[in-house]
Amino acid sequence: MKIGLASDHGGFNLKNEIADFLKSKNIEVVDFGVNSSDSVDYPIYGEIVANAVVNKEVDYGIVCCGTGIGISLAANKVKGIRCAVVSDVFSAKMSKAHNNCNMLSLGERVLGKSLAIEIVEAWLNTEFEGDRHQKRVDMITQIENKNN
Ligand code: RB5
Repeated sequence: MKIGLASDHGGFNLKNEIADFLKSKNIEVVDFGVNSSDSVDYPIYGEIVANAVVNKEVDYGIVCCGTGIGISLAANKVKGIRCAVVSDVFSAKMSKAHNNCNMLSLGERVLGKSLAIEIVEAWLNTEFEGDRHQKRVDMITQIENKNN
């Protein structure tokens, strides 16, 4: 499995902690930045990872900013992306099992490191259930197609 990671300055430390965790589990990481805590604009990094996901350069994307909100909003503007901002393990699992999210967004100013790592682990270990949920995910895609 290959994971694309990125953050703005607000998610820089958490992004690095997630990278270390994934590498410790022998999961391949593509780090799209940032590489320092200098102030940057989160939409740039949400879009970069989203494009890597839709172009299949990576299997999934994980992005971090201060809240997880801004960078997820940017990622979700890319056609084919379903990026969930998650702050608990249950929602992490559901965002994959029911919504087939291909990106996860976390807030460094919201979550402690341990919970963030638990969320990442739960999300990666959960499979999409398909079935009735596929129809609903397809409906989201139809909305995307209709409005683009
Ligand atoms: C940066 O200060 C902050 O606005 C950003 O990291 C994020 O929380 C935006 O949603």
